Amino acid sequence: MFKIAVIPGDGIGTEVTSQAVRILKKASRILNEQIDFVDLKAGGIAIDTFGKPLPEQTLSTALACDAVLLGAVGGPKWDNLPYELKPEQALLGLRKSLELYANIRPAIMFDALTASSSLKPDIVKGIDMVVVRELTGGIYFGRPAGILEEDGIRRGVNTMTYSEPEIERITHTAFKLAKSRNKHVTSVDKANILHTSMLWREIVNKVAKENYSDVRLDHMYVDNASMQLIRNPKQFDVILTENMFGDILSDEASMLTGSIGMLPSASIGGKHALYEPVHGSAPDIAGRGLANPVASILSAAMLLEYSIKQKELARKIFQAAEKVLNEGYRTADIATDGTTRLTTEQMGEKIEAAI
Ligand code: IPM
Ligand code: MG
Repeated sequence: MFKIAVIPGDGIGTEVTSQAVRILKKASRILNEQIDFVDLKAGGIAIDTFGKPLPEQTLSTALACDAVLLGAVGGPKWDNLPYELKPEQALLGLRKSLELYANIRPAIMFDALTASSSLKPDIVKGIDMVVVRELTGGIYFGRPAGILEEDGIRRGVNTMTYSEPEIERITHTAFKLAKSRNKHVTSVDKANILHTSMLWREIVNKVAKENYSDVRLDHMYVDNASMQLIRNPKQFDVILTENMFGDILSDEASMLTGSIGMLPSASIGGKHALYEPVHGSAPDIAGRGLANPVASILSAAMLLEYSIKQKELARKIFQAAEKVLNEGYRTADIATDGTTRLTTEQMGEKIEAAI
């Protein structure tokens, strides 16, 4: 028996997550394996219900489950709360407490969507890369942090810090992944300026040399990488980078593929794993059946692959999504002339039927 903590969160999080759960229920029938789902609250909805973004019960239940499936958190309603009470803190708290140091964000171009990209078809056709983002270190978590006051002058402070072991473990994640793909890692840093990046580059080189002589390694400064991503995205296989650079570059990479609504992610660590779409809660379109459930459904596929070790079934789900797109079915974000518009739920139903 397998137990999944389901945290739909806010905005379109609830709509897309129920479609991912639909697919996991189908998977459970196909595998003839029992999957239990436990519904939990985090983010804005938890603030409204319990007065805090990450209630203890949510955290302790998530820690006791085999995997977490998350929708999205946040919305304008909670934007003006103090820092510790913001919905986003739920996400950071889960990442830190579950020790999810590796965030895996694939950016894959579906052939059927080449026209939806803002770039020319020949630049984007066939994009297949993965951003491996360090998720529990760097400037997101470094101390000191805060708005400090000295002699009546306020100063905003964040600290970017990385230890050798933190860099080592994420480097291993990226290289192991590259070994199963096109054997090419591009490590992105700012080693011409930042000390954290200088250490980062040194450790990446060391780990690569000692363990992965069969994988090609390049280094790229983050400003250049953001430019190379739109100039020639197909040069990338696995991008390895720290927390904030990865946050920014993964949004850029995802949009190359036409819609941020298409891309899944897995956050893994030693013991726990969390799966969520790359997109946010999109409060402007919430509750109207407009959201694209594909990112969430593909996140469920990643859950099957990484946590339940059902790679074959994960691949089938991916192919089912691809087939539905090839047949011309689209949610609003990726609809073009001559395609058939579906609601969030109809899209989920189509993909379920295609598996
Ligand atoms: C992401 C998001 C989060 C991040 C926010 C919501 C805290 O942008 O998962 O990429 O910055 O990590
Ligand atoms: Mg982000």
